Amino acid sequence: MNLTVVPGRPLRGRVRVPGDKSISHRALLLGALAAGPTRVRGWLPANDCQATLRCVQALGIEVGRLPGAEAVDLVVHGRGLRGLREPADVLDCGGSGTTARLLSGILAGQPFLSILTGNEQLRRRPMGRVAEPLRRMGATVWGRDGGRLLPLVVQGGDLAGIDYTLPVASAQVKSAVLLAGLYARASVTVREPGPARDHTERMLMAMGADLTKAGNVVTLASRPTALRPLDLTVPGDPSSAAFLLVAASLVPRSEVVIEGVGLNPTRTGLLDVLQAMGARVEVLEQREMGGEPIGDLKVQATEGLRATEVAGDLVPRLIDEIPILAVAATQAAGVTVVREAEELRVKETDRIAAVAGELRKLGAQVEERPDGFAICGPTRLRGAVVESHGDHRLAMALAVAGLLAEGETVVQGTECIADSFPGFEAVLERLRG
Ligand code: S3P
Repeated sequence: MNLTVVPGRPLRGRVRVPGDKSISHRALLLGALAAGPTRVRGWLPANDCQATLRCVQALGIEVGRLPGAEAVDLVVHGRGLRGLREPADVLDCGGSGTTARLLSGILAGQPFLSILTGNEQLRRRPMGRVAEPLRRMGATVWGRDGGRLLPLVVQGGDLAGIDYTLPVASAQVKSAVLLAGLYARASVTVREPGPARDHTERMLMAMGADLTKAGNVVTLASRPTALRPLDLTVPGDPSSAAFLLVAASLVPRSEVVIEGVGLNPTRTGLLDVLQAMGARVEVLEQREMGGEPIGDLKVQATEGLRATEVAGDLVPRLIDEIPILAVAATQAAGVTVVREAEELRVKETDRIAAVAGELRKLGAQVEERPDGFAICGPTRLRGAVVESHGDHRLAMALAVAGLLAEGETVVQGTECIADSFPGFEAVLERLRG
């Protein structure tokens, strides 16, 4: 599928973005382990979360659905920590890294055999980072390439505790170890090099697990006998809101309010960066929803954004927003530098190479570096034919770039947008009147 974008009309109005992808995955996975039914409102029916839904069902969990176009209400009939059943077939995680990695952690604690696979894109992404700590805890994990690539074969059982220092700031690896920890004989400690998203920790605590956090150290003190079912409403995904925030900041005469966006501090790096660049983004009405801070975001077009630097602890707080941040950087005065973001090379695609290559087709001045890039702005972008590389976040970032470019931009391969933001094109069109 292609998306053709022409510049011109401002974005105006109030919108909601679909539910948070990370929380939607976790609501299913943890709901499956709860001692009774978990109700999830505003679950994200994107391809990635549908993969988790199918896997959970294949493990014997019934999930009731009240369908909606962009949000769904679910009831996950949790069967307790020991209630999963051996799947009759291979578990297909589609293109979802979160599904494969978090599920590996849960499966490591099950007294049965599971085989996890995914699409061609996911079968290239590193899984050794979860397999390694799970093996150390006592699970048997086999995979291609010496145990580092899907398909993974997991034979779980009773696990030992672990004190594990994450080699990268990854919420998926941290979550896999903590979820395996639900089945460990002794405590599990995870030390993080940076502030990766903490939705798993928050949800486990809300379910009654004995979990503590001190700085960058998370400890699950002892395995719970049961997890309390939750009744939760999923906040709007800040990573989806990001595309609208940047679009409304850059397209003249825009003014948009995005309602009910998750504002967990491990996810708000882009807001900090946009504010530092001089964008007019305000948080209205901050409140709590299901153990997560949320708020309405008001954004108005700004002229004269300034370049900025992104590195260190900021990187995990905006890791998924770097493609759209790169688009903002093309319009900012000076050189925007992103460093210490080599993790981008193992996302849905090599996001450093792909962002640099595609933005250059639109006339941007981008220098690719091993751990990030430098973008010199402001540049008048020119419409061109660009390619998503099968990466939802790149597809949406390029569509926003097209709103700023002279002439017509064609983004090829936009079906992947449904991996995280079904209805993106319609939301954009509605805001543009
Ligand atoms: C996610 C964690 C991040 C992020 C991904 C979702 C999660 O990946 O990029 O989109 O839900 O835990 P890493 O844990 O690999 O950094």
